[in-house]
Amino acid sequence: MENAVKRIGVLTSGGDAPGMNAAIRSVVRSALKREVECVGIRRGWSGLINGDILPMTSASVSGIINRGGTVLYTARSDEFRTEAGLQKAANTCKLLGLEGIVAIGGDGTFRGAQDLSKYGISVVGIPGTIDNDIVCTDYTIGFDTASNTAVECVDRLRDTMQSHERCSVVEVMGRHAGYLALYVGLAVGATAVLVPEEKYDFNAHVAEKIRRARLNGKTNFMIVVAEGAASAVEVGKQIQEQLGLDPRVTILGHIQRGGSPTAKDRVMATRMGYEAVSLLAEGKSNRVICSKNNKIVDYDIDEGLAMKKTLNAEEYEVMEAMSGV
Ligand code: F6P
Repeated sequence: MENAVKRIGVLTSGGDAPGMNAAIRSVVRSALKREVECVGIRRGWSGLINGDILPMTSASVSGIINRGGTVLYTARSDEFRTEAGLQKAANTCKLLGLEGIVAIGGDGTFRGAQDLSKYGISVVGIPGTIDNDIVCTDYTIGFDTASNTAVECVDRLRDTMQSHERCSVVEVMGRHAGYLALYVGLAVGATAVLVPEEKYDFNAHVAEKIRRARLNGKTNFMIVVAEGAASAVEVGKQIQEQLGLDPRVTILGHIQRGGSPTAKDRVMATRMGYEAVSLLAEGKSNRVICSKNNKIVDYDIDEGLAMKKTLNAEEYEVMEAMSGV
């Protein structure tokens, strides 16, 4: 069957995530396999506006599957939210003969994809964010690596907290979503986890859990805070003022976004990249690649983003059962 597109572009946008390079590699090689030309667009949507391109061959994506970050750079673009910016990006596509774009990123990236597809460019999104907060997919590229990195860091903190019988407050990423915090909290056996989805209540969510753990003989406590739930520094202060402990606060920050991707992130990225190119070759547009029950599927972006993703209720219940008892 003849391909619906002859030349496509690939870009990464928004916060980077380990595994994005594996996705870029897969898109380029899957396209070449189908005899579709693939052009790299640097610096996300703003790169598309400015025609910031990088010709891609099979060799140019060699040796990147194991590398964190993104070789195409990434950016957040305000101009792309305007009609003038979108028109410029569509003009770049027309000038270069790009009939399709694969956009790797989070929900902001997909909103851009939705808008661009209205200008007649076929766009397919691949979910890449450590937050795992894309509504329609069970999994986003980078989550596995970021959660393992955070777990390794917290394990190190725990060693010294145990020796000194201290309380540790550790802040993990997640401005709007607590998936990473909850997952890490479960994996490290945290005393308490604070997520943005729950209104912060110091007494119920922290103090009572520390008290219960202390009553059970524990002398060190690990409080995992998603950055959007509360300020770790403030939580530390409250622990000091109200419980008389001397906590140590650690903000993991961008450490969580770097590093060599895990096998899971590489494999998911490679499978998703392959599927994204298949959809464009079949003439589909405005689709987002998703993982559902470990199967790679796709949704209409509008439908996908309209779905409501709530925190994993079962994980939350298990965390509650494990913490502070
Ligand atoms: O979207 C991923 C994410 O890492 C969030 O968890 C975090 O709040 C944000 O990006 C940080 O963004 P920046 O790189 O702009 O500091």
